Amino acid sequence: MSTVKFYSGEKIPLEMHKVRIIQKLNLPPVEKRLEAIKEAGYNTFLLKNQDVFMDMLTDSGVNAMSDRQQASMLEADDSYAGSATFTRLEEKLTEIFGTKYFLPTHQGRACENIISQAYVTEGSIVPMNYHFTTTKAHIVLNGGIVEEVFIDEALNLTSTCPFKGNIDIEKLSNLIETNGADKIAFVRMEAGTNLIGGQPFALENMREVRKVCDAHNLLLVLDASLLADNLYFIKQREEEYKDKSIREITREFADLADITYFSARKLSFARGGGIITNSEEAYLKMREYITLYEGFLTYGGMSVREMEAMVVGLDETMDEQMINQGPQFISYMTDELIKNGVPVITPAGGLGCHVNAMDFISHIPQEQYPAAALAAAIYIAGGVRGMERGTMSEQRDANGVEPLAHMELVRLAMPRRVFTLSQVKYAVDRIVWLYENRELIGGLHFVEEPTTMRFFFGKLGAQTDWPDKLAAKFREDFGESL
Ligand code: F0G
Repeated sequence: MSTVKFYSGEKIPLEMHKVRIIQKLNLPPVEKRLEAIKEAGYNTFLLKNQDVFMDMLTDSGVNAMSDRQQASMLEADDSYAGSATFTRLEEKLTEIFGTKYFLPTHQGRACENIISQAYVTEGSIVPMNYHFTTTKAHIVLNGGIVEEVFIDEALNLTSTCPFKGNIDIEKLSNLIETNGADKIAFVRMEAGTNLIGGQPFALENMREVRKVCDAHNLLLVLDASLLADNLYFIKQREEEYKDKSIREITREFADLADITYFSARKLSFARGGGIITNSEEAYLKMREYITLYEGFLTYGGMSVREMEAMVVGLDETMDEQMINQGPQFISYMTDELIKNGVPVITPAGGLGCHVNAMDFISHIPQEQYPAAALAAAIYIAGGVRGMERGTMSEQRDANGVEPLAHMELVRLAMPRRVFTLSQVKYAVDRIVWLYENRELIGGLHFVEEPTTMRFFFGKLGAQTDWPDKLAAKFREDFGESL
């Protein structure tokens, strides 16, 4: 049991830590927010953090470190080769995941680069529960094809399905049979499936996927970047694991995968990444890429201080009272928004709260980037920075045709251990106000459109003067308030 019940019956998460270092935040007045988002081309990636009150862009590299993590950083061993810090991290990974080999990288996408270079060939297929932007980019760059074999429920935004991240076993088997196993580079499962709302998969599902891989002699690759959330949900939602420890559940994940990789910007409350495996063959196949792209084998592009923080952060990930914080705050935020009629993804997942822009502002066609418009509007309304996860995050095909995304979402990430409950309440308050004034929100169009990863650098313009009208309405309703 890891949750605290309130006598009042109120369902609110309780922080199981205290704040010992603080960072001053700045909440600029709405007129300044309007100016800042215009300057950023209505792209929240291009806002300056000094103009942001709550940075809910991502949970990546912005999680709060513990006192023990900070302390450990002073003990880092800087030697280029054979660093004691590397040994400590390697041993911790072996202790937790039971894997023999560790290849360090500077972050998650570096692992994807290396795994793709080692295993993806021209025309080969990588089946997965759902793609992540950087994962797909690296597979495609190496000539591969991503095939998503998610369960139908995955794209159902309001659902009660506890494991929307599951792979559809029949779709996976059919795909392999249709194309032949020799066309499959590997099968990938992403924990805490990012782009469908931080949704977990069940261990039972992973066991089934393992069986399919065994039957066809295929590698199973686990993206464990969002493993912490997935671990928590397994314990909460998968009956069989109710009484298992987080360590036991983690071992089961790792034992089922041939290769596990992770972004330590998410897993372990630090910054870095790594690939772990028990296969000597896989290790040797990928090893040379580390020295080519990342750094020597005992640091892989990471700062040794961050590696020390990872050692402690991995232990903290095995503590249910640490990893339950994110999902509980996200669940609180999701419930409060639902109470006020705001359309959000359910069930609440990990990573963040996901607002459904397609329903929030149903009057804006997908060609006018509703998720980007809503992200800009949320910033104007509250200085809260979320991330567009919709058509703007897609890429035009070779003929210049723009694919419309499955979903138009604004992700409000919940960096771990960072925000207090009153801050989360504030964000809810401003989003509810915005929902009540949603007819004021208009569409956007590209002014500068880069050909790749356009959501990172692209600049947009407003279809009308709706942002000015929205800011004016805020001033009218909130008076002198920031
Ligand atoms: N895999 C998943 C599931 C991710 O969410 C990310 C990053 C990566 C791989 C790549 O890791 O950033 O360390 O290179 N997700 C971040 C996000 C960027 O904001 O969701 P990275």
